[in-house]
Amino acid sequence: MKTISLLTDVPGPKSIELGSRKQKAVPRGVPQITPVFVRSASGATLTDVDGNVFLDFYGGIGCINAGHTQPAVVEAIKQQAEAFLHTCFMVAPYESYVALAERINKLAPGDGEKRTFFVNSGAEAVENGIKIARSYTGRPAILCFDDAYHGRTYMAMSVTAKEKPYKHGFGPFSQDVYRVVYPNPYRNVNATAESLQAIEDTFRHRIPASQVAAILIEPVQGEGGFIVPPIEFMSGLRALCDKYGIVLIADEVQTGYCRTGRPFACEHFGLVPDILLSAKSIASGMPLAAVTGRAEIMDQPGPGALGGTFGGNPVSCAAALATLKLYEDGSLCARSKAIGKIFVERACQWQQRFECIGDVRGLGGMRAIELVLDRKQKLPATDLTKQVTRYAMEHGVLLVTSGTYSNVIRLLVPLVATDAQMHEGLDVLEAAFEALAGKEVQQCATSAH
Ligand SMILES: Cc1ncc(COP(=O)(O)O)c(C=O)c1O
Repeated sequence: MKTISLLTDVPGPKSIELGSRKQKAVPRGVPQITPVFVRSASGATLTDVDGNVFLDFYGGIGCINAGHTQPAVVEAIKQQAEAFLHTCFMVAPYESYVALAERINKLAPGDGEKRTFFVNSGAEAVENGIKIARSYTGRPAILCFDDAYHGRTYMAMSVTAKEKPYKHGFGPFSQDVYRVVYPNPYRNVNATAESLQAIEDTFRHRIPASQVAAILIEPVQGEGGFIVPPIEFMSGLRALCDKYGIVLIADEVQTGYCRTGRPFACEHFGLVPDILLSAKSIASGMPLAAVTGRAEIMDQPGPGALGGTFGGNPVSCAAALATLKLYEDGSLCARSKAIGKIFVERACQWQQRFECIGDVRGLGGMRAIELVLDRKQKLPATDLTKQVTRYAMEHGVLLVTSGTYSNVIRLLVPLVATDAQMHEGLDVLEAAFEALAGKEVQQCATSAH
């Protein structure tokens, strides 16, 4: 049985009407990536206000790994909402916050003693990771990467790479931020050596390592285009941090909680970061983010230095505890790998047919295809990417793009999607390429691990 059911053109009349109300009530800076207004969601599907049922291949931009409205999560939210909604953990604490911190300390890579505290968003986690690293080292500088995305608050914008639309007109940004090239195996065969060398060069010519508090890295770049760095780069990075006493912060906001087929993406590289930031899929869509790190580092800021009114809200903690239960038995990680396999098999077949598919990459259920104008020069096929995702939406599959040039189609499907749903969605994507891309080619080169 098919999942997709379209009763109207997409967007339908009710979505169009709400879209025009949105235009008058909400600033245009808040984008509307798909023109479809949602009425309900379940598993891997979204139903819009016109009654159209879509396959959700973007999962709330990576927040819905455990599926929409999982009954156990919804029940935990209801129970907590009836008990109490808010106290402020810093004033009147509650057990669920502590229990969640204990669970995440256990789940995060590394055997040593850890601490976790909670904030409201990925950007806020980034802010706090940097605050703590500076406090621990007594150093000012932060090293981050080209094509990185870390959020929209001022420090998070400062370490984010892409100017437009995220930073344009919002400067000046935070001082003491240095950016180096992220290793991209699709575009650079010497990616590891060049990126590690860029860091060493930065220490030699721009800022001494003794002034660097932290290196902040996404273990797989999210908004940057699902770029998977080579394993040797990550071990080289860890070694550099150890050599110079620099705190290594892994931003797992998008990669965390089984998205890549492991609880955290760092595990693919055998990487144990000093601080790990997680958010998005931690609580199945409830706003929550975690800052987890080595006890010695996390305990450096004194009492009152960390926290916030809503951080670790009891309803979000209840949702997170119920969500973690779903991750902890290993089945969603297994499903993530299976979903990734289905995607790669189909996408590699397309790569043999369509010249525009330059690269197929990713880890587990975090997969992407990069569209290029031709395979030699690899110039980004931005317009085509837009057309393909538009076609998919009009035929019942919601997808979002990424990449500095918006030429990467990314898969962040809820990990509860069935094989049949995966193939149904991929059939739509294949039809989009058939309609829009055309050109036949012979070779298939994937840079996926
Ligand atoms: C890697 C990464 N870090 C940080 C953020 C910011 O998270 P939030 O939007 O919750 O502030 C994002 C959001 O997409 C992200 O992908």
